[in-house]
Amino acid sequence: MDQTSHDRLLIIDFGSQVTQLIARRLRELNVYCEIHPYQNVTDAFLADFAPKAVIFSGGPASVIDEDSPRPPESVFDLGVPILGICYGQQVMMHMLGGKVERGHGTAEFGRAYVEPQNDPTDLLFGWFLGGREQVWMSHGDHVSEIAPGFEVYGTSPNAPFAITADLDRRFYAVQFHPEVHHTPNGKTFYENFVRIAGFKGDWTMGAYKEEAIQKIRDQVGDKQVICGLSGGVDSSVTAVLLHEAIGDQLTCVFVDHGLLRLNEAEEVVTMFRDHYNMKLIHADESDLFLGELEGVSDPETKRKIIGKLFIDVFQKYAGEIEGADFLAQGTLYPDVIESVSFSGGPSVTIKSHHNVGGLPEKMGLKLVEPLRELFKDEVRALGHELGLPASFIGRHPFPGPGLAIRCPGEITRDKLDILRKADAVYIDQIRKHELYDEIWQAFVAILPVRTVGVMGDGRTYDYACALRAVTSVDGMTADYYPFTHDFLGETATRIINEVPGINRVTYDITSKPPGTIEWE
Ligand code: XMP
Repeated sequence: MDQTSHDRLLIIDFGSQVTQLIARRLRELNVYCEIHPYQNVTDAFLADFAPKAVIFSGGPASVIDEDSPRPPESVFDLGVPILGICYGQQVMMHMLGGKVERGHGTAEFGRAYVEPQNDPTDLLFGWFLGGREQVWMSHGDHVSEIAPGFEVYGTSPNAPFAITADLDRRFYAVQFHPEVHHTPNGKTFYENFVRIAGFKGDWTMGAYKEEAIQKIRDQVGDKQVICGLSGGVDSSVTAVLLHEAIGDQLTCVFVDHGLLRLNEAEEVVTMFRDHYNMKLIHADESDLFLGELEGVSDPETKRKIIGKLFIDVFQKYAGEIEGADFLAQGTLYPDVIESVSFSGGPSVTIKSHHNVGGLPEKMGLKLVEPLRELFKDEVRALGHELGLPASFIGRHPFPGPGLAIRCPGEITRDKLDILRKADAVYIDQIRKHELYDEIWQAFVAILPVRTVGVMGDGRTYDYACALRAVTSVDGMTADYYPFTHDFLGETATRIINEVPGINRVTYDITSKPPGTIEWE
């Protein structure tokens, strides 16, 4: 989708692990930006994109190497402000006539403190109020001579050119990463940069909603759209946005595989069918899924069975919707950002569960992806604009295969019932103690083991379960949540008292890595 109505900032990606954070910082400042791998940024691309400012990201390469990544020379003739970060700084210096040396003995990783030099520039408004600023360094090579026209505005003990700028041309180059959490005043730094570039801060979710609705109408015309609704935040926001745009031309298909949480199917149906008045097909296929899963213990086999059945079922129901031309998906920006690959060309990473397994091509459907430009927190903000309840928008992620991967070993209806009840008590405890929003994801796994217990005067022989709760930013890494012993004790007591079938509760204190968040 083209965002020509907004001022645009271009981030040229040289492969840094934290490039997405730059984009997120800018979006938080209501600035529309896009990340593009350096390989794609040609003269023609620049002319077409017409950025109001450019940022060069960091990256793992060395500018001293002959074939190391570069932006096109023409970027320096655009007449717009440019900010180079880390590798971006080195590339800028190298191309504009400075010198970069290998980092023998001067490599620097971690916290550093920058002190001001020269009269402060507009870029550093609000900086150095406490004398020095903490920043995050992560570099091997270093600039040994700055390019003509540049002055030094900040130094650290190991980085004499920590902050440099050519104020006339509005080129800025810094050795550290202002986008990371460990540069606490980084937000002010970006605020200054976008103010210098003249951004109006017009990227707001209110404005986005109106534009997105208009674009959906233009794209879809009077045709019918199918949307797979899981009840998760992305698909829910997609569905509500589409419904606002095209009303009854939208039909949602909610595949109920029998592996959902307590009351989840009813809640989804009530909210979307009754509250929003959407055309919603509740495809209750739990018998089919649970039947096929009978006797299966291997985690990968479970996933494969569920994935295949899901597509079959979705296709069956979608096929019954007459005249559908479009399939709506909640694809997000992080799923479509092309990542820089140094071994080959740029590669697109799309999570397989978003792209309902090649269905669009198979069914001859065109895609509508109204969240393609948004980060997760922006999707939540959009959900808020659309009037989705806060409790819904802030929900923890829930995996496509559902409770199947929280039930190691064989899946039975009995075990699923026990798991649902235990999970509901656990989440209730977390909400009561107001911990829900601090936790990325929390759930119960029912273990394929029975243990002996004693309740009242009797011996019990019931299932053990494991509680899981983690904090995380993106699900790629995670830490277990440090509940108090009181909380854990109270929760264990409630589960054992309220959930027949469980007589032992454990707490999983494994981080990711080495564990995964789910048990399978
Ligand atoms: P793991 O267990 O790999 O999970 O640490 C990371 C995040 O991904 C979710 N997850 C899935 N989501 N389909 C999904 O839609 C899946 O097959 C799947 N497997 C894991 C998991 O809940 C966590 O948020």
